[in-house]
Amino acid sequence: MSVTIKSAREIELMREAGKRLEYVHNKLAEFVKPGISTKDIDRYGEELIRGLGCIPNFLNYNGYPASICVSVNDEVVHGIPHKKHFIWEGDIVSLDAGLIYEGYHSDAARTHAVGKVSPEAQKLMDVTKESFFKGIEFARAGNHLHDISAAIGNYAESFGYGVVRDLVGHGIGTSLHEDPQIPNFAQKRRGLRLQPGMTLAIEPMINAGRPDVCWLDDDWTVVTEDESLSAHYENTVLITEGDPEILTLGTIFQP
Ligand code: MF3
Ligand code: CO
Repeated sequence: MSVTIKSAREIELMREAGKRLEYVHNKLAEFVKPGISTKDIDRYGEELIRGLGCIPNFLNYNGYPASICVSVNDEVVHGIPHKKHFIWEGDIVSLDAGLIYEGYHSDAARTHAVGKVSPEAQKLMDVTKESFFKGIEFARAGNHLHDISAAIGNYAESFGYGVVRDLVGHGIGTSLHEDPQIPNFAQKRRGLRLQPGMTLAIEPMINAGRPDVCWLDDDWTVVTEDESLSAHYENTVLITEGDPEILTLGTIFQP
C-alpha cells in the first residue's frame, strides 16, 4: 500500500476521531489506580469508545482480543487485559487505545504512574513523552520521515535508554495501519518526504535497559528481554503546510 494524502473532508473526520480518542484517554487516566485489573481498564475503555458511537479498532484486529492494550512495567506494548492481572502502587502502565469515527481511525498511547513510582520510572516516562515532541519538531512538509525517527531515537539514547527496533509507528486513515512505517531510531535510509495531508501515528517505545524485546506465549504481549521497564507514548499527527497538528492532544471534546 502507498501513503495516502487526506482531503479536507477526510482531515475533518480524522480530527473528530482524534478528539474523541483524547477524551477516552483522559477518562482512562482518571480511572487508573492501585487494585484495579487490566481487564477493568479494557472494559471501561470499550464502554467509553462505544458510548461515543465509535468502534474500538484494536478489538479483533488480527485476532487481538481487547479494545485497549494494557502493558505493565516490563511489558512494552500489546499487553492483553486480564481480570486477574492487577496493577499496584509503583507500577507504570501503558494504555494504547484507538477508535473509528465515521470510517476514520485514531490511535494514541499514554504511560501512567500508578500511585507513587520510582524516580527511575518517572524519568523513563518523561523522556519517552519528550522524545515524541523532539520528533514532531521535524514533522513538517518537505522534511524526511527519517528526521522524525532520528530526533526521537537520538534523544532517548542520550539518556542511555534502549529504543525498541522491532516495532514502529505508521500511517493511519481509513485503516489503522497504513504506509509509511515510522521507526523510532536513526537509519541510513532517509525515508520519504513529508507532505501536507499525511496522517501519522508516531509512537516511541523506550526501554530503561536494552532495546531487545521478545513476545510472550500469548503471541501478543511484547516484553523487554532484560526485564527492564518500558514506556510508550503515541499521538496521531497531521502534516500541514506549517506546524504539525496533533489530533489526539490539546483538543476540546465534550460528549
Ligand atoms: N498502537 C498500536 C499499533 O499501532 C495498536 C495496535 S494493537 C492491536 O500498532 F491490537 F490492534 F494490534
Ligand atoms: Co499505533
